[in-house]
Amino acid sequence: MAFQRIGNRMVLKKNIFVAGSILFCATLVVVVACTGRPENNPKMPIDAKASYTRFCTQCHGDDGKLGLSGASDLSTSTLNSANTRTIIAKGRGRMLPFKNLMTKEEIHAVAAYIETLRK
Ligand code: HEC
Repeated sequence: MAFQRIGNRMVLKKNIFVAGSILFCATLVVVVACTGRPENNPKMPIDAKASYTRFCTQCHGDDGKLGLSGASDLSTSTLNSANTRTIIAKGRGRMLPFKNLMTKEEIHAVAAYIETLRK
């Protein structure tokens, strides 16, 4: 009788251990999935100026006025934010689309940044 009680407790402990391991692995998968990609990490702020320098200055210049290969002067742009974001994401004319190179959040941030280049 006493042996059986101990036996049941052992089984119970083993079940708790198995359940715990599964929970631990599931948590680990979720944590890795959420933090693996830096763009999904809210703790990593987007540096809009750095993104602009990286993707846009080659045609638009630091101040938006360079106009290389027919690029629009961003300092005189009259586009609203929504249209600016659409052009960045989908491109227009000789400007290539950036939706595969930048995240949605990054496009938002850069669109806001180039509005600061307007006089
Ligand atoms: C390969 C050169 C090139 C690069 C790189 C480039 N653009 Fe352009 N951009 C252009 C050209 C060319 C136009 C004019 C498009 C047209 O013919 O309508 C333009 C137009 C624009 C316009 C429209 C302005 C207006 O008022 O009509 C915006 C906004 C813009 N670019 C933002 C950006 C941003 C932000 C980036 C970086 C993410 C970028 N561009 C990168 C070439 C470029």
